[in-house]
Amino acid sequence: MTTTESVVANAFGGPEVLTVIEEALPDPGPGQVLLELRAVGVNPIDHKLYSGAFGADASRLPIRPGIEASGVVLAVSPGAAGPTGPVAVGDEVITYAGEGAYTRRLVVGAESVYPRPQALTWEQSAGLLVTGGTASEAIVVTGVVEGETLLIHGAAGGVGSLAVQLAVAKGVTVIGTAAADNHEYLRGLGAIPVTYGDGLEARVRELAPNGVDAAFDTAGTDEAVDVSLALVADRKRIVTIVAFGRAQGEGFVAIGGGNPDSAGIREAAWPRLIETAARGDLDVVVAKTFPLTEAARAHAELQRPHPRGKFILIP
Ligand SMILES: NC(=O)c1ccc[n+]([C@@H]2O[C@H](COP(=O)([O-])OP(=O)(O)OC[C@H]3O[C@@H](n4cnc5c(N)ncnc54)[C@H](OP(=O)(O)O)[C@@H]3O)[C@@H](O)[C@H]2O)c1
Repeated sequence: MTTTESVVANAFGGPEVLTVIEEALPDPGPGQVLLELRAVGVNPIDHKLYSGAFGADASRLPIRPGIEASGVVLAVSPGAAGPTGPVAVGDEVITYAGEGAYTRRLVVGAESVYPRPQALTWEQSAGLLVTGGTASEAIVVTGVVEGETLLIHGAAGGVGSLAVQLAVAKGVTVIGTAAADNHEYLRGLGAIPVTYGDGLEARVRELAPNGVDAAFDTAGTDEAVDVSLALVADRKRIVTIVAFGRAQGEGFVAIGGGNPDSAGIREAAWPRLIETAARGDLDVVVAKTFPLTEAARAHAELQRPHPRGKFILIP
């Protein structure tokens, strides 16, 4: 038995409900490993879970945010093996923990543990699986192939910037919406940037007079949805990760949200994503790091216009 310091939400509300607690941690059970975390990825859903966006059922409290992290294996139950082979004490790993990763030490199933490539920093390692898995699934579901054009809304964001890189690598022409400050960055990734806001459809039509083959919405705004519906002929090739209500009502595709199909596609993508990033063919941009105990500040900043790239907590 060991102890850890964790960040949890004991109530629904804004970032101020996050609390730092000291708690006991059980020894790893069969198939589990104990990790000492070095970096923890911050994702918008970490905040949505306790914000009330998904309801405010008090029986779900305390909410333990934190889906992904990187760290060192401290203890292993006999025979525990990850998706790529046995796991040993001292291994440097990346984990898709699912929840509870806002902590210093964490027990996870070995099946969620992947070797950490030395070419990535601890911070990059902790910020790849959620955005990369989501971007990979979106590319699969849009069905884009070489020579086609894909419109990505929020292209400079965590998910968007990985989707741009994956699509460009397939020979897809990418038109990406972003604030003007991010246009040069998107050009560097190989996308054609456009500014979101009034007149977006006309600006995209200037670049693609016959419309685009597919669209990926990471913004969830009515504008992103309306422009996608106007420019893509086949609604099954419009994919959103935010506008679930409109997708259901208007016959386009929403991915994620606990769908088992999504989980399968993402899991299959992770080893390839880790390898591609380690080779230097996928750039994971880290915007900012915060001490674990300042998770509330990270969440508050994430809800405002923020610098491009991942926010990372350092335990
Ligand atoms: N369903 C799923 O499985 C799933 C998985 C991961 C994430 N998500 C959701 O997807 C969203 C994006 O996540 P993320 O990690 O990529 O967040 P992020 O890194 O904060 O990126 C969000 C991006 O949205 C852009 N943006 C802001 N306002 C916009 C507007 N009006 N129109 C178009 N773009 C706008 C910003 O671009 P500028 O900086 O250029 O303004 C920013 O780059 C979040 O809501 C998250 O919860 C869902």
